[in-house]
This record gives sequence, C-alpha cells and structure tokens, in this order.
Amino acid sequence: MRSGGGSFLRKMSLHKFRKSASLSNSGARDETSDSDTASTQQEAIAVADKPSTVPPETQKVLLLHAVRQPYQLTENYPVPKLESAHEVLVRAQAIGLNPIDWKAPDFNFAIPELPYISGRELAGEVVQVSGAPSRLKINDRVLAISTDYRDLRKAAYQEYVVAFDYNTVRLPAALTAEQGSTLGVAFVAAALALGVCAGLDFSSVLEGPDLYSLIRNVSPDLIAQDIRSECLDSIRSHERARSGDWLAVWGGSSTSANLTIQLAKLAGLKTVAVVDKAKHGLRLANHHAIRTDLLVDSHDPARAVEIIRANLKGKLRFGIDVRGRESAASLLQALSPDNLGSDSDGAAARDAPPSPPSTPHDSSLLSAHLIGLTGLPKQAAPEGTLFHTVPIKLFHEVPEVGEALVSWLERLLAAGLVQPPEIIDVEDGLESINTGLDRMRKGEISGGKLVVKV
Ligand SMILES: NC(=O)c1ccc[n+]([C@@H]2O[C@H](COP(=O)([O-])OP(=O)(O)OC[C@H]3O[C@@H](n4cnc5c(N)ncnc54)[C@H](OP(=O)(O)O)[C@@H]3O)[C@@H](O)[C@H]2O)c1
Repeated sequence: MRSGGGSFLRKMSLHKFRKSASLSNSGARDETSDSDTASTQQEAIAVADKPSTVPPETQKVLLLHAVRQPYQLTENYPVPKLESAHEVLVRAQAIGLNPIDWKAPDFNFAIPELPYISGRELAGEVVQVSGAPSRLKINDRVLAISTDYRDLRKAAYQEYVVAFDYNTVRLPAALTAEQGSTLGVAFVAAALALGVCAGLDFSSVLEGPDLYSLIRNVSPDLIAQDIRSECLDSIRSHERARSGDWLAVWGGSSTSANLTIQLAKLAGLKTVAVVDKAKHGLRLANHHAIRTDLLVDSHDPARAVEIIRANLKGKLRFGIDVRGRESAASLLQALSPDNLGSDSDGAAARDAPPSPPSTPHDSSLLSAHLIGLTGLPKQAAPEGTLFHTVPIKLFHEVPEVGEALVSWLERLLAAGLVQPPEIIDVEDGLESINTGLDRMRKGEISGGKLVVKV
C-alpha cells in the first residue's frame, strides 16, 4: 500500500524533476510553479500540440473483457490523451510480447480493471510531445517501456500509446523497430536487479547510473512503501557487487537473462548461466555479448548446483533466477555461504567474527544475495543469505531513476554495447497477438522474443 504522503511527495519529485530537466535543457525557462502545476501542464501540452502531427480521435486496441479469455480487437476506441508535461504519444510500429501478457489473464493477477489493455513494450514514432523540454521530439523513433500496468493509456496493445519521456528510449538508426521492441522490460529488470538489489555501479560503462547512490539521494518518502526496504535496506555498502565478483543466472535462455548477462559483463562481473544446453548450448557459447564464463546444463538441478559449487569454491554471492520458485531454491544451494564448509577457506570463515562495515572485500565473509524475477524459494532465507525482488516500479515512479536508465540505454545502443535479443518470429497486426500469446503458452518461444508488427 502506498501512503498518501508518499504519493504526494512523489508528485512533487516529478515536478522538481521537470523543473531541473527544464533548466538543464538549452536554457529553456520552466514556467511552472508549485501552486499552479496542473494548469500549467495543460498549457504546456496545448503549446506543444501546435508542432505535433495531429493524432486521430480513435484507434484499434485489444481489449481483455474477462480473465482466461482471448483479447478482443476493438475499433473506434479513443486515442489516449497526454495528461502531464512529461508525456509523449507514440504511434506503435512493433510490440514485444512478454510472458506477463498471457500469465496475467490466465492466472488472474496484475489486471487492475476490466476491460483491460495489456502490453508492456513497443517501438514506434513520437507523434505528440508535451511542453516540457525533453530528449524527445516529433518523429523520433523510440522504444517505450510500460512498467506502469495500472495506466491503460501506457499499454502497448493499441495503435497509439502514451509514455513518460523518462520511460522512452530513442533508437539508433541501426536498429529496426522490431529489434527495438525486444529489450525494454528486460533491460529495466536487469538494470534494477543488478543496480539496486545487488548494488552494482554502472558508472564505468558509458557513465551509467550508480542506482545504489541515486536512490539514496531521493527522499525515502518518494519511494513506494512496499519497495522501500528492498531499495534502501537490502544490501549494505561493503557488500555491493563489484567488478570481478561472480553472478549466476538460472534460466539463462530468457530475454531477461540475456540483458542481465550483457550488463553484468559490461560492468566486469564474471558470469555463470544455467540453461537447457541441448536447446541453447551452442548459441550461448558462441555469442560474444552473452557468452558466460561458465555454462551449466539445467537438466539435473542437483548436478548443476554441484558443478557451480565445485568450480566457484564459495565465491558465488549473487544469483538471479528468472524461472520460478523451484529453480530459485536450487540456485540458493549454489550460493555461498551455504558452501562455506566445502573448502578450507570456508571453514575458517564460519568461525570468524561478524564482519564490521569496513571489512575489506572478502567474499567468504559477506552475505549472499538471491534475486527472484519470477519467485523465491518457499523457505525463509537462511542465515547469511538475503532474498530480493526487483522493485520494477521505481522505473516509472521515480523519474530520476527512469531518466538515468533510458538515457544510459540510448548511449549503450548507440555505441553498440548492448545488443537486442534474437527475434524468434514476427507476427502481423494487433489481431495476431492472441496467436502469439498462444505460442508463448505452449513454450514455442524460447531463447528470444516474439514481436508483432502493427
Ligand atoms: N519481476 C519483474 O520485474 C520481472 C521483469 C521481467 C520479467 N519477469 C519474469 O521473468 C521471467 C522471464 O521473463 P522473460 O521476458 O525474460 O522471458 P522469455 O524471454 O519469454 O523467456 C523465458 C524462457 O522460459 C522458457 N519458456 C518459454 N515458454 C515457456 C512456458 N510457456 N512455460 C515455461 N517456460 C517457458 C524458455 O526457456 P527454455 O526453452 O530454455 O525452457 C524461455 O527462453 C517471466 O516469468 C517474467 O514474468 C519478471
């Protein structure tokens, strides 16, 4: 539950963010004041409407009328309106399908209202901007990342989509809209898992964000209460992941794993991926962006744990599971300090006094961190291990975080440092989304992304 005060403070943060963005953009003057934010935002949108191409009044959308039903193609549905000064309207050209798009209606979660519009990422063209200065202008080719599933205006399964500019990434000319639509949600999940939950600093990679410091520099009240502890208390400064540390990703074939491994490698982590090697072994072993130091087959989880423990000898402190509760429980067994007793260093560490905050970096004395994207083990975290969930809504609720991530992704894509995941297939038209989601339900989309051209 959010506190009302927190929500108010977050709105104020957005306003302050707008002011600072305004001041930092070509000397443009910010006309807004604390007392008349809403009316000024409306004026700002009206002013910006002039150079915009005029979007139509209605569009096609896919509506979900009831859980466990197919989405219905609906014509003459209103095109969503810009409501605040940092929103843009994007004409969708390609939509990336995500597992939640079928899991939410099948298992009845994350559907705040019916009829509902789904879809979490799309690439397209900016057709309308608001008045606040921003990186974006009309005709920009962009990727819009819609983690804000409660705001139907921002859902991807429609022809025109509203997006915050701080959740929107300009695509380099080298990337097609289809490629652009593959990597947004996975990038955000990967960056927050590594940067917030594991505390990894990206500033050595094209001046990426140090999210650990960034979120400690906003008022705690600006961070929703249900994620505040994960954001601020879940990892201590001296335990943060740093270059040279090991990270294991269980479920290495997924898009989220792909982006996690890419970002981890760029920041200097050593990586292990656990995958079905019969399906993905050669591809992952030969792919320069996602090739891991150790590739382990997932077929026999106990054997996979044994292989990781034998190779890493108690040095594995960070694990990210993308598959679910069971594989997360296996990954837990591969993490230290469970395996402290497995070698002589570990035995010494078990008897050592608790480490004070200034302890030099020594993996055998530090906690292990297990991050679950899809679930965590049923059991409570054992002593010396912390469980984490990814605070995904930081991306749209704290503009400073959103802006830091999207502007970094722009630089990474422009420099070719991050590559889009493989496209498994492209379906045609909004109406083909049901077919695409059925293919995902059947497990046909593996090791890459299914994309729909609009
Ligand atoms: N917490 C968060 O904020 C967050 C953010 C993003 C994603 N997620 C979750 O993380 C997980 C991975 O997401 P993703 O977008 O990276 O997935 P993805 O790219 O679609 O890949 C998932 C992998 O799961 C396997 N798979 C495919 N269809 C399946 C099915 N019907 N049932 C079971 N397994 C199937 C495939 O691997 P194999 O062929 O190797 O088996 C596939 O490579 C999902 O559960 C998603 O909801 C959570």
